[in-house]
Amino acid sequence: VLISGAIAAEAPEPKSTVGQSIANFSLRDYRGKAFALDELKDKPVVVVAFLGTECPLVSSYTTRLREMSEKYADRGVSFVAINANVQDSISEIAQWAKKHKVDFPVLKDVGNKVADQFAARRTPEVFVLDAKRVVRYSGRIDDQYGIGYQRPKANENYLVDAIEALLADKPVAHASAEPVGCLIGRTSAPDATSEVTYSREIARILQKRCVVCHREGEIAPFALTKYEEVAGWAEMINEVVQDGIMPPWHASEKHGRFFNDPRLTADEKEQIKKWVKAGAPEGDAKDLPPPRTYTDGWRIAKPDLIIPIQKKPFEVPATGEVKYQYFTVDPGFTDDKWVKAAECRAGNRAVVHHIIAFIRSPGDGPRMRNHTIESDWLVATAPGAAPMSLPQGYAKFIPAGSKLVFQVHYTPNGTPQQDLSHLGLVFTDAKTVKKEVGTWRAVNPRFEIPPGDPNHEVTASHTFRKDTVLMAMFPHMHLRGKSFRYEARFPDGRSEVLLDIPRYDFGWQNSYVPLPPRLLPAGTRLVCTAHFDNSAGNPNNPDPTAKVRWGDQTWEEMMIGYFSMVLADQDLTKGHKTVRRTDMFLERAKTTKPDQNEDLLTKLAATLKSDNAADNLYKFTLLLQDHVPQVDRVDLVVVKDDKVEILLDAHPAELDPQLPGRGAKLPAAKMALAAHAQSDQPVVHEVLSKEKAPDLRFMSRGFASSLHVPVRLDGKPGTVNFWSEEPKAFPPEAVELLRRAAALLDGVATKSRR
Ligand code: HEC
Repeated sequence: VLISGAIAAEAPEPKSTVGQSIANFSLRDYRGKAFALDELKDKPVVVVAFLGTECPLVSSYTTRLREMSEKYADRGVSFVAINANVQDSISEIAQWAKKHKVDFPVLKDVGNKVADQFAARRTPEVFVLDAKRVVRYSGRIDDQYGIGYQRPKANENYLVDAIEALLADKPVAHASAEPVGCLIGRTSAPDATSEVTYSREIARILQKRCVVCHREGEIAPFALTKYEEVAGWAEMINEVVQDGIMPPWHASEKHGRFFNDPRLTADEKEQIKKWVKAGAPEGDAKDLPPPRTYTDGWRIAKPDLIIPIQKKPFEVPATGEVKYQYFTVDPGFTDDKWVKAAECRAGNRAVVHHIIAFIRSPGDGPRMRNHTIESDWLVATAPGAAPMSLPQGYAKFIPAGSKLVFQVHYTPNGTPQQDLSHLGLVFTDAKTVKKEVGTWRAVNPRFEIPPGDPNHEVTASHTFRKDTVLMAMFPHMHLRGKSFRYEARFPDGRSEVLLDIPRYDFGWQNSYVPLPPRLLPAGTRLVCTAHFDNSAGNPNNPDPTAKVRWGDQTWEEMMIGYFSMVLADQDLTKGHKTVRRTDMFLERAKTTKPDQNEDLLTKLAATLKSDNAADNLYKFTLLLQDHVPQVDRVDLVVVKDDKVEILLDAHPAELDPQLPGRGAKLPAAKMALAAHAQSDQPVVHEVLSKEKAPDLRFMSRGFASSLHVPVRLDGKPGTVNFWSEEPKAFPPEAVELLRRAAALLDGVATKSRR
């Protein structure tokens, strides 16, 4: 077979054809009809676009080309598309043209002769010919899309500018701009004596490193499972592999090793290079590895249960931004379930950016913190994220009566679409489970990124209360996310970077599995540090002039360091005790010396020194949680003008605030908090759900017990409130310490000066 492109990989860049005239050529379109350039004799301008059916950048630009061809038709501009890829068959081209409603000629350039005549290298790459068929512009269409970025809109419209200049009889300002996209898969004669062949070496490398995504029905735009297809992509494969673009991976080499590091070894890279240089020879099919088998449609083992996540298909509009959708499903579990594998399967990949499945357990609090480990996240699907498949003896817990909540982010793609997605679960017998796997987070929803700031820092942290084994980390930010780092600060004072992502890429939501799994002794604090680039220099930035806060939408930001973990000494086959954080506090209180509490109070006071009151309270709360772990939220309420108002609140693990926060006001008359502000003693509610006052009833949606310490705030009566998801979280030892901590906030100016 005469196939693929390779030799050109080492050949010098072909010369630009700008300024040269293009001789007439004739090719057949995908219907078999011949088409010659001369048929457009009377047209003042012809645009020739080299395209491929599977290149992501071609997909981004096809609609734009179609719209331009419609817009310029009246002014005598004709568009012609040429497909010169060996790997794109006539039927694939036909399907592609139909899907994108391409109505200008789409020609097949067998043997890439015309591509050679134009010295075209990539798809998409456009050539603008004047009335004499001299090339006046060649290169990219505009600068909106590139490898790894996407501007909200183009700054430079090279193609449009060239057409307009020619129509106005003016010189073209930019005669060329480097094309970006996939290399054209060219034909050439492979070297039959090559020591590296597809069948022997390359197929194995691809199977190991690429085929999870690059196979029929998976997330990559083309399969790398057959020689003909792979050979057409050979040059491009070499480029993305040598540049480290594929497989996608963003952790710095300097910190940590990872079990799921998919990168090729130096030797594998070298073999790909040699193979491509030799013209991508097939070799002997007898050497092929046995094909890998996958469960049809799933990356996990065959699910025991498949649950549709919507009642009926969700309608995704053609354009615009769709708010995060939340679908709640009652799976009808009448007994507890242990899950060892789970996967969300997007019904329509074209528009589903991600799906996260949360567990909402029945009972008091919104989360299942009171089982053996903190966890409310089941599994997510997102570009680059692997489904959940746990080792033998490890499982996630779904209590009987739980509901499943699915968060789905849809990204419209230009035509109206529908989506019906599914969750697949593989269960395991409770008797075999040794460890409960929890997925939790360090999160900071209280930041504000100034306009134009190229390097805004935000931190968040989480303290492990028991000896914990860290199993995976996955950072989450949006389009301004620049870098992300996880650092462990051990109780003995040492610290270590566990994961460093110097260039965060929103397009890939990888998770990172440390090798070996990391033991984090009780008291270790995980500190996550993120940087955001809100400058115009970040091509993905939707608006460098905006002040950016927390929000669901991609033009807003998030800062979450997710992680998965198990308890080091847990063996559930030997029975388990529920871990109450309050009990851990009491256990520790027995041995706490008085000067340790004084020390804590000094450190707490030190957190209140900056001029950002919200930030102060957040840091105050984090530090407090290290010592009184059962506290979930701290807030400050003041009574004035017959209203109770929340001045500030800090609720560190809260992702999606559903409870009232800063600024919320209610008439004081029936509120328990108004009465507590007048008290001269701290007030404890051991079981909030039994309370009648409307403010307490409302907060009982999130918390099981509370403590209220009267203070004066900004000269008015008020309370410092401590809330816990655990019932009876405020025994006298806790009240004593928290009363003194609250007193530090007495009289503290609560208005941010920032
Ligand atoms: C985690 C899934 C995944 C793995 C693993 C993966 N790819 Fe990809 N690949 C993708 C996706 C998704 C795209 C489309 C990217 C886009 O839309 O911009 C892609 C695009 C490509 C492209 C087109 C050029 C580009 O950058 O858009 C090439 C070539 C490619 N992959 C080669 C490889 C090779 C070779 C390997 C293995 C060494 C590999 N990929 C491993 C998911 C993957």
